[in-house]
Amino acid sequence: MYAFKITGGTPLNGTIEVKGAKNAVLPMMAAALLTDEPITLENISYLSDVKIQSQLLESLGVKITHHDNAITLQADNITNYRAAYEFVSKMRASFWVLGPLVGRFGQASVSLPGGCAIGARPSDIYFAALESMGASVDIENGYVIAKGPLHGADVSFRRISVGATHNTIMAAVLTKGTTTIYNAAREPEVVDLINLLNKMGAKIEGAGTNKITITGVEKLHGATHSVVTDRIETASFAIAAALTKGNIFIKGGQQNLIEPISNVLQMCDVKLTQTDEGLWVNGQNTVLRPTTITTAEYPGFPTDAQSPITTLLALADGMSFIEERIYENRFMHVPELNRMGANIIVLPNDTICINGVNKLSGATVMSSDLRGGMALVLAALVADGTSIVKRIYHIERGYYKLEERLSALGTQIERIHLDD
Ligand code: UD1
Repeated sequence: MYAFKITGGTPLNGTIEVKGAKNAVLPMMAAALLTDEPITLENISYLSDVKIQSQLLESLGVKITHHDNAITLQADNITNYRAAYEFVSKMRASFWVLGPLVGRFGQASVSLPGGCAIGARPSDIYFAALESMGASVDIENGYVIAKGPLHGADVSFRRISVGATHNTIMAAVLTKGTTTIYNAAREPEVVDLINLLNKMGAKIEGAGTNKITITGVEKLHGATHSVVTDRIETASFAIAAALTKGNIFIKGGQQNLIEPISNVLQMCDVKLTQTDEGLWVNGQNTVLRPTTITTAEYPGFPTDAQSPITTLLALADGMSFIEERIYENRFMHVPELNRMGANIIVLPNDTICINGVNKLSGATVMSSDLRGGMALVLAALVADGTSIVKRIYHIERGYYKLEERLSALGTQIERIHLDD
């Protein structure tokens, strides 16, 4: 098991680069199943989630070549329509091969992902959409077995789901007729998947709105696409600059994608300046102030930035509240932050009350999930003394070579091996 050993107190200074969003790359890799021609995705980091998605796609017969910051996938000889438990259980996004498999080949057998640390995460919206498009959907031995043929349909989601939006779009692009999704997700990663699919010859309208219309085409072709920048990495590093009173340039960072977070930072006197190449975040005059946040679907405050912003508010001058509306169990970082000296109370109704403290102190803490782990790293960056953040395999799912990139900004951080 690896851990980060971090000694806090150094302001971050310098340049850090943010590449394509993990949450856009993963569905785009699944989209490669929709054509027998090569799909090249550029501007990507070889994160552990990308590795798992590659392994799953290879098990279906996709040929994959990795280049520097890019990946090429070719699905010209798919012989297996079964996505095994060993992959899907490791990463929920691998479930998203369901839509393209049933859309192109009329059949799919995909292990159910089940819940995870942050919540139950059911899949009913995915199934209801496929069923309204004519698929039969059965659960057998822990696998969902979906069979076509599909037809175009009007599909209304009972709540907004990013994954169900990706999946339904990918099921519909090669399906005869028109499919309209109502109450669709508007996330930039959904928009970028649609951009890729349209480059491949799909006919999709309504990207970035809650009504997406897909007119089925007979065939898709190859494409090359540069993936939209990772807004959650951008937000996390901007928070790090504010917390440490540093001054950093986030190469590739886009302020317009992190508005709910940049609003909080600006309220704390952090200076943000967008250039063509990226985002300057100057936190030298930061005054951390309390606020109230409710997580919501895009363009609301992203649930994935909830844990990182908790760390910021833990040091604010007053009382803050965060209500988590997307997941029912996303406060596992709270007890660990409290072990570092924070004063946060978990209230009923998925809300936390954060009583700001003057300082945090270094401790050995345990990551429970990807973003919760990043919240602990952020706390360690400002805590007095040295912290050990354990179980960093969670963090490495979404933050590429964090120790190298933060070291380059002046942080004292090491990736160490622990025996337990
Ligand atoms: C994606 C992101 C994740 C982010 C989340 C919400 C990826 C790889 N992951 O996850 O980082 O936190 O969007 O922005 O892109 N739900 C149902 N039934 C369903 C599907 C979802 O009840 O069939 C619920 C979920 O349990 C959750 C909510 O809907 O409470 C939103 O989930 P969803 O948008 O589907 O999240 P993911 O796509 O899995």
